[in-house]
Amino acid sequence: MNRVDGKVAIVTGAGKGIGRATAELLAECGAKVLVTDVLDAEVEETVEQIRAQGGEAQGLRHDVTNEDDWTAAVDAAVNGLGGFEVLINNAGVYLQKSIEDTTFEEYDRVMRINVWGVMLGTRFAMSSMKERISADDPAGAIVNLVSTASIKGSPFASVYATSKGAVRLFTRSTAREISALGYNIRVNGIYPGIIDTEMGAAAMQRIVKSVGESENRAREIAEELHLINRLGTAVDIARGIVFLASEDASYITGTEFVVDGGFWLK
Ligand SMILES: NC(=O)c1ccc[n+]([C@@H]2O[C@H](COP(=O)([O-])OP(=O)(O)OC[C@H]3O[C@@H](n4cnc5c(N)ncnc54)[C@H](O)[C@@H]3O)[C@@H](O)[C@H]2O)c1
Repeated sequence: MNRVDGKVAIVTGAGKGIGRATAELLAECGAKVLVTDVLDAEVEETVEQIRAQGGEAQGLRHDVTNEDDWTAAVDAAVNGLGGFEVLINNAGVYLQKSIEDTTFEEYDRVMRINVWGVMLGTRFAMSSMKERISADDPAGAIVNLVSTASIKGSPFASVYATSKGAVRLFTRSTAREISALGYNIRVNGIYPGIIDTEMGAAAMQRIVKSVGESENRAREIAEELHLINRLGTAVDIARGIVFLASEDASYITGTEFVVDGGFWLK
């Protein structure tokens, strides 16, 4: 399982939550990791945690909406860690707002980070990986964080759901375009439901509001919405991401991997 030994991975938004858990698990499974986020102190903490467990990591302040930051991230992975084969497009933001109250600026910010961030990362990764991954090598892997919100939609979080809907189709399109170009890179989306992170806490508040329940029962209600009667953890999602990035998923591309404890089905 988890054959990422010797690979180099960039994980965006890895200062906390799912990104941090993914960076730690990739390192535990043998990959070198470039930990990036807009939060300097949190990047350092993730790097220190990985090193304390015997893993190899470097950290970088990196805003996924900034092209110069992407140039610096690719440079750090290529010149600092020897090149990369794995990109985890994890950085994202949530917006709990009714449609009637959402401003242009709020819509724009979510779309820039959640959609443009993934687009830029993919563009930079394709350019860099195609130079060094030949058909004889194990494939490169890009994993995009999507969401069950892209399937169900989200009342009071419509911009977020819309941004993830864009990532859903971008992921499929990327997998098809990469195949047409003959690049040896797999591209997949992972679909968490409600995960117990800062973002997940905000999502829980939104859900209780949409069903007209009291906010202090948010967690209990959110748990009852799952076939597996609990919230997901960051590690639950990290395990799915590491699988998609690994050689165990060598025949999997363009897929929509739902890891949600049955939230979507229930
Ligand atoms: N938590 C959930 O319930 C859930 C469900 C479905 C999908 N997701 C997706 O999983 C991913 C991670 O979510 P999380 O729950 O760990 O969220 P989180 O809020 O705990 O962490 C997100 C990280 O992204 C970083 N970030 C934000 N803007 C950035 C930018 N412009 N450049 C670089 N980094 C930036 C933040 O600083 C933070 O460290 C997101 O894409 C999210 O949409 C989360």
